[in-house]
Amino acid sequence: MHTGRHFLQIPGPTNVPDRILRAMDQPVIDHRGPEFARLATEVLGGLRAVFKTSGPIIIFPASGSGAAEAALVNTLSPGDRVVIFETGQFSFVWVQIAERLGLQVDYVPGNWRRGASEADLEARLRTDAAHAIKAVVVVHNETSTGVTSRLPEIRRVINAAGHPALLIVDAVSSLASMDFRQDEWEVDVAVAGSQKGLMLPPGLGFNAISEKALAASRTARLSRSYWDWQEMLKPNAAGFFPYTPATNLLYALREALHMLAEEGLDNVFARHDRHAAAVRAAIRAWELELVCEDPREYSSSISAFFTPEGFDADRLRALVLEHYDMSLGGGLSKLSGRVVRIGHLGSFNDLMLAGTLCGVEMGLRLAGVPHRAGGVMAALDSLAPAIYEAAHSVTA
Ligand SMILES: Cc1ncc(COP(=O)(O)O)c(C=O)c1O
Repeated sequence: MHTGRHFLQIPGPTNVPDRILRAMDQPVIDHRGPEFARLATEVLGGLRAVFKTSGPIIIFPASGSGAAEAALVNTLSPGDRVVIFETGQFSFVWVQIAERLGLQVDYVPGNWRRGASEADLEARLRTDAAHAIKAVVVVHNETSTGVTSRLPEIRRVINAAGHPALLIVDAVSSLASMDFRQDEWEVDVAVAGSQKGLMLPPGLGFNAISEKALAASRTARLSRSYWDWQEMLKPNAAGFFPYTPATNLLYALREALHMLAEEGLDNVFARHDRHAAAVRAAIRAWELELVCEDPREYSSSISAFFTPEGFDADRLRALVLEHYDMSLGGGLSKLSGRVVRIGHLGSFNDLMLAGTLCGVEMGLRLAGVPHRAGGVMAALDSLAPAIYEAAHSVTA
């Protein structure tokens, strides 16, 4: 029996704010009527500011994996060569989808502690004079490790090589939490989901589409029906869907877009940066090891740390859940049992973060994981530096 609120500190699905829950709590309307057309037109337009694009955006009633499949089947043909960077478990999900669709995958090896390597990409593109590579897939923020790939660098390498490959980006755990600029970074297809930075329940998948990707879709020969962009874009122009949309999630999305606009995207990103820095300060103070190796690639939406050799990360998470009613993310695949992932994205504030870190620190004690005390204090120092005290000691 737990009292108070559950802490959902996995890196998505994230906490759904009460405002959004209330926005969903409405009767379902006729999805072929004028009220629905106004709703769909508003959210399809509003999403552009979040993706920072002037191009079309598609909303599928699907999870992020469905939106990933949609990105591939709309732009590629059987046997096409695709470069995918190994950043962690979610890049591997892309490999599985691509291979099952009959694409030829060049999986660029990585150590799950770093983002996509510009040098590796440059080497591949340089030797591809025939332009056999049709797409480069990068997971912007690798949710399994807390490592963010530097997309502007990836784009710079593709442009410097004069290579026509499409850039397909998984922005599932970066969109609306971390800076993402579809048009400026010339991302051809951005893939996202509802359950992370957008603060919605799971159930919506997004494709934001460049002109080049739209042109590719006209000649791409992979089979598609449900995911077909053209089938969606035609009715979307009038505010409708080719099949029954997730109406109440669109109410939720409308509210989320209002909330993001009220806070201002730059403030949203700054808030995530600040919270991530505080979490890293705690991990450092505990003398535990962050998974991300390169400070230029620190994620602002999730931080992962290793438990010391011989200390099961899943036991720590189970104790935290049992005693403090907080869900933390576990290590996926080869990181299973070795890593704890703290989600700090979406609707979140300083006190929620402080509570989260208290739960982790108490869990470290309960589980007998060797660590130095004081992580929470280091995080508080990072969140609330002694400016106030300093200012007041002058006048006191
Ligand atoms: C980076 C990333 N890509 C893809 C996915 C898959 O999304 P979904 O579980 O919504 O299918 C996730 C899910 O967490 C993710 O974090």
